[in-house]
Amino acid sequence: MRAAHLTTGARLGRRPGRKGAKMSQQHGFVVWFTGLSGSGKSTLSGLLAPELRRRGLKVEVLDGDEVRTHLSRGLGFSREDRDANILRIAYVARLLARNGVAVITAAISPYRETRQTAREMIEADGTPFLEIHVAAPLEVCEARDVKGLYADARAGRRPGFTGIDDPYEPPLAPDLRLETGDETAEACLAGLVALLEERGLAPAEVRR
Ligand code: ADX
Repeated sequence: MRAAHLTTGARLGRRPGRKGAKMSQQHGFVVWFTGLSGSGKSTLSGLLAPELRRRGLKVEVLDGDEVRTHLSRGLGFSREDRDANILRIAYVARLLARNGVAVITAAISPYRETRQTAREMIEADGTPFLEIHVAAPLEVCEARDVKGLYADARAGRRPGFTGIDDPYEPPLAPDLRLETGDETAEACLAGLVALLEERGLAPAEVRR
């Protein structure tokens, strides 16, 4: 049953007589976190990345805040700019994943249609794409207000803030929904790892 979830690349790597090909030909995958600012996307990325590395995978994290200081520098928060940001992230995720990297993305990615486009770009290569809704409610994110941006937005100093006066469209059928407002980050991580194992994407931990 497990084998049914393996990508073609992973199966190829197991062909007899192709010793050493397994890692280089193994297909990567994309874990696409989506959720409000302050919902826990970066925290979960920071937990998932080392967990996957312990299991022998090559991992890269594309975090919204970081991407916006490099690849998307100069982009704002209009719909057009957010879409450009998300499609750039999807493009890089696609290139990495088809070369065997487990890619984790952590951008709000507020629009359903754009997330669907990202999924289609990535799945076009046969790369598994998992949409993970980091679903802390607005009240929780706003109460945490780690960066003080919700207070700014409520005071009108930051117009077009997601969840306040710009839309967040929750996934209708995510691969997984994590209730980060109720559950600990560790419990959410466990759910995520279970899903990746079930899909044949996270090998057992490498014991040294
Ligand atoms: S996205 O909409 O294009 O996916 P992204 O995840 O890259 O957003 O960046 C969101 C981060 O930018 C937030 O966590 C917050 O720190 C900051 N930010 C600044 N202005 C806004 C805004 N108007 N709406 C949402 N986030 C904003």
